[in-house]
Amino acid sequence: MTGGFPIHLPVMNTLRDRHILLGVTGGIAAYKAAELVRLLRTAGAEVQVVMTHAAGKFITPLTLQALSGRPVRDELFDPEAEAGMGHIELARWADAILVAPATADFLARLAQGRADDLLATLCLASEAPLLVAPAMNRVMWENPATQANVDLLRARDIAILGPEAGEQACGETGTGRMREPEALCADLQRLFAGNALAGLQVLVSAGPTQEPIDPVRYLGNNSSGRMGYALARAAREAGASVTLVSGPVSLEPPEGVQLIRVQTALEMRDAVLAEARQADVFIATAAVADYRVADPRSSKHKRGDGPLRLELVENPDILAEVAALPEAPFTLGFAAETDALERHAREKLVRKGVDMIAANRVGPGLGFGSEDNALEVYWQDGHQSLPRQGKDRLARALVRLLAQRLGRNPDQLCTSQLHAQD
Ligand code: C5P
Repeated sequence: MTGGFPIHLPVMNTLRDRHILLGVTGGIAAYKAAELVRLLRTAGAEVQVVMTHAAGKFITPLTLQALSGRPVRDELFDPEAEAGMGHIELARWADAILVAPATADFLARLAQGRADDLLATLCLASEAPLLVAPAMNRVMWENPATQANVDLLRARDIAILGPEAGEQACGETGTGRMREPEALCADLQRLFAGNALAGLQVLVSAGPTQEPIDPVRYLGNNSSGRMGYALARAAREAGASVTLVSGPVSLEPPEGVQLIRVQTALEMRDAVLAEARQADVFIATAAVADYRVADPRSSKHKRGDGPLRLELVENPDILAEVAALPEAPFTLGFAAETDALERHAREKLVRKGVDMIAANRVGPGLGFGSEDNALEVYWQDGHQSLPRQGKDRLARALVRLLAQRLGRNPDQLCTSQLHAQD
């Protein structure tokens, strides 16, 4: 490709918790890899840098290690590094591989399918989308040998990002400058923006509810709201219009999502029912209090005012009410269980009349408040396990499964959408 390539910044950040393997090869533009790592980390991605030996002549591994927060890998046969994450595991770890800068030599090695160093081996051993940002002198870029290699790589669905035209380190002017780090970051953002739920309205309930006892006290629970917020974000990433009805939590509202804040179960019910009529999907992650205080006091109960007796009355089951609506959306409920996961989850599926239940084991270090989680997902005639992982990644996996159940094509990350704008 010659010339510029328009930058279309996506409406939201899709890089949160993505695993980016950044290959750095030996060209003068290698110094720009430092800025690229910083931008990717700022966007919330995990970055593993893999350098070729030649790259080490242009930028030190220490710089890239400090910015990425992970030791840089450069040896194929490094017993110590392999004992941590072996090269095959590293190839599987990646959600995308970006080689920036990619030299003429590296493009040639890639075109030949060589596995003569760690980076080339990883490119060969990974199923993740591969993107390369060439950078070289303009004559080397225009050379028919390089152009033939680039054509071959494109035909294999490898995204060729840049190079750009302009002034070159060698003093010449022409095409061969590495695409700028901001633009590469935007390319990755676009790669991860999906459309499996495009055109759908998704309603999510999240967080705890607080049931007042008096003006300063309430009955509550430990729900952090993280799973619901992650699902709202993942549904938005998959192209849905998302409304999030949230109890009190201390989380940043997800970008591009309509947020409705509530406190009590009754407020949550009103907000959810008002939105449910327009919704195609309802995801109920909220830990709704089962009971509320029948008659909360209007003034603060003081010590010495005598024994405090609370009469509790049952709260409505919001999920069951939505599932029973005449034109109910597709409903996905959650079940936190300490034992007999499948039995309890299936019983809930039937009792609440929902389409799908995501069950998780709660106990020490799992469930409420923890950073990661695992889910067993059940529907009338099926089941799928989603293994333990960070809640953002787990939410994306659940949204993919949901899209499948809705008869949608779950997103396959596809470099062709980047080619389309070459
Ligand atoms: O019955 P249980 O509380 O275990 O059910 C959990 C599921 O039901 C969750 O999806 C939760 O958000 C939903 N739920 C609800 N309203 C309630 C209680 C639970 O929407 N009052």
